[in-house]
Amino acid sequence: MPETLPLTLPDRATLLAIAAEVGTPVYVYDAAVIERAYRAFAEGLAPHPHAIHYALKANSTLALLRLLRTLGAQADANSGGEIEVALRAGFIPDQIVFTGVGKTGDELDRAVSLGVKAINAESPGELDRIASRAVALSTTVRVALRVNPDIDAKSHPHISTGLKTNKFGMPLEQVRQLYRDHARQPGLEPVGLHIHVGSQITSLDPLRRAAERAVTLGRELRDDGIQIEHLDLGGGLGISYDGTPVPTPAEYAAAILPAVRDTGFSIIVEPGRALVGAAGTLLTRVIDVKQYADGLRFAVLDAGMTELMRPALYGAFHRIIAVSPREGLEQAYEVVGPLCESSDIFGRDRRLPPLEVEDVMAILDAGAYGSVMASSYNRRPLLPEVLIDQPSRDYKHNDTTTRSRDEPGRRHWRVIRRRQTIDELLSTEV
Ligand SMILES: Cc1ncc(COP(=O)(O)O)c(C=O)c1O
Repeated sequence: MPETLPLTLPDRATLLAIAAEVGTPVYVYDAAVIERAYRAFAEGLAPHPHAIHYALKANSTLALLRLLRTLGAQADANSGGEIEVALRAGFIPDQIVFTGVGKTGDELDRAVSLGVKAINAESPGELDRIASRAVALSTTVRVALRVNPDIDAKSHPHISTGLKTNKFGMPLEQVRQLYRDHARQPGLEPVGLHIHVGSQITSLDPLRRAAERAVTLGRELRDDGIQIEHLDLGGGLGISYDGTPVPTPAEYAAAILPAVRDTGFSIIVEPGRALVGAAGTLLTRVIDVKQYADGLRFAVLDAGMTELMRPALYGAFHRIIAVSPREGLEQAYEVVGPLCESSDIFGRDRRLPPLEVEDVMAILDAGAYGSVMASSYNRRPLLPEVLIDQPSRDYKHNDTTTRSRDEPGRRHWRVIRRRQTIDELLSTEV
């Protein structure tokens, strides 16, 4: 029997209360799990000057951002929209790095005029566009060029970004010359280098090698008289979706820190999934059960690829459990969503207790790349989100617009985003 990790799941009574009161489908996050993950990064990286810029793309619901900010996180924004959300969550421009494979003129204008901590530029052309905006505004913009280190993250091809054939950044061997030619122009202050090799990386080797390459290149830039301050090593640390142990944030820190020790470079890391992934559960109900003559048995849920796209998009695996398992022998189910798409499947051949309509199910480890990727395909309103709120001593929320529940024996929770109505869904249509 392979070693498996325990489920990070809130207690079942709390989940059932949320399903009953808020309805399903609904995302439920556990603040304590986020806090634990954040502290693991912070403690692991403590021996070296560092900043943890949470990657908003993983989940940018305001209440989670506020929680992470209060814990000490800064922000990695991947679009103009994410910059605005970061500001509304209370991050100041000096806490925001702006990344993105293609940035529009408007997005650059905003980032330049805000004076963000760094713009991670993707190309010489983008450096030039940033410079001309900075000069027009009589300001100087802190920039880092994204380097494509040609490292195989050994992750899913859709979330590997550090290979030569990927669209991200500029090839390693061109970067030194690009800094000489483009980063020293008026309006730019080259402050760093940026590397991100992919997501859901479960082997430390690619992350260690990326750090080593960044250090080598940073030293070469110094030899050229370009005094960068930081190496932004991106995000990418994976989580365990199937219970198999994966490297912890402490092990990640231990893998990358030797490369940067005594270099004089501070580091930025941009974790997303590893901070919020395991903290999120998608609660959903069975809305139909059927069996074909050949034995194939389906459980149709009220959540589908519109609520959690990862299985349809990447063939991703998520554990699925019945929140109140019924007595009886386990049976094999095809666990599917209600949408008119054959890829709308959460799990094939899953051994589950007997299921009946209205049973509440939990799809685990759905905190990252879940709600942010939700869509209203099939005119399905966006689903609500709930935070099980176990504040640390210094964390106070003053959000009075949300409901809260304090019940004996259950954990405190509150709605942090309510369900969209059909009127809201249609509100932009003329
Ligand atoms: C530039 C950048 N930084 C950080 C992240 C966050 O990655 P992860 O959620 O795997 O930590 C991503 C996501 O792919 C990214 O593209």
